[in-house]
Amino acid sequence: MNKSYAAQLSPETQKWIEETFCPEDQQLAEIRQKTEAAGLPAIQVGTFDARHLEVFVKMLGAKKSIEIGSLGGYSALCICRGMGPAGKLYCLELEADYAQVAQNNLEHAGVGEQVEFLIGPASDSLQKISSQGPFDLVFIDADKVNYPKYLEWSMNHLRVGGAVIGDNTFGFGYLGQTQFEDDEQREVGEAIGQFNRVLAQDPRFKTTILPTSEGMTLGIKIHD
Ligand code: DHB
Ligand code: MG
Repeated sequence: MNKSYAAQLSPETQKWIEETFCPEDQQLAEIRQKTEAAGLPAIQVGTFDARHLEVFVKMLGAKKSIEIGSLGGYSALCICRGMGPAGKLYCLELEADYAQVAQNNLEHAGVGEQVEFLIGPASDSLQKISSQGPFDLVFIDADKVNYPKYLEWSMNHLRVGGAVIGDNTFGFGYLGQTQFEDDEQREVGEAIGQFNRVLAQDPRFKTTILPTSEGMTLGIKIHD
């Protein structure tokens, strides 16, 4: 019983877990396929990150959520499933054509009534829905350099007991690096670093980072 952590997550164990938990069902597989067929980038959350989202949302009892960066609606379906039919999700998406694909996918999946799309820069959309708060969940998965801005807004507009979740919080491997190939890498690394640091250290939140394939940071608001 002295195997290393890496050995515990052997390829055989990983395969067994995939087959046992089946994180991607038919409905999600269809969204993945339709999103790629529509020419959108294949950068939706991983299958287990999607499952994590659904379970966390259910555990939170979230009924009013925001997703920043919707792409083809894959993670939005998981959030809607977690909330159940009484939940409402604001989907913030910069690209109108991505939002159209997402809306079609979500309507087809039977949750179209629960989602409201706001198209354009997320910072503008967040201002527009400020008065609808406080919110139960903000899931951040959009342009990485603006993660700190989205986080600040989220921290101020969540209810106590609500949570902020960030995708890609390993920063594509740039986190903790001092050498970068270009300015974009540096900016992304610094922004994701700031996002994690601020959320980890703010006394209003209790925060962890899950070692999923790309990193998922999860902070729950413990007081105002
Ligand atoms: C990229 C963005 C994402 O949100 C992600 O999960 C993977 C990749 C990207 O911009 O390359
Ligand atoms: Mg992502």
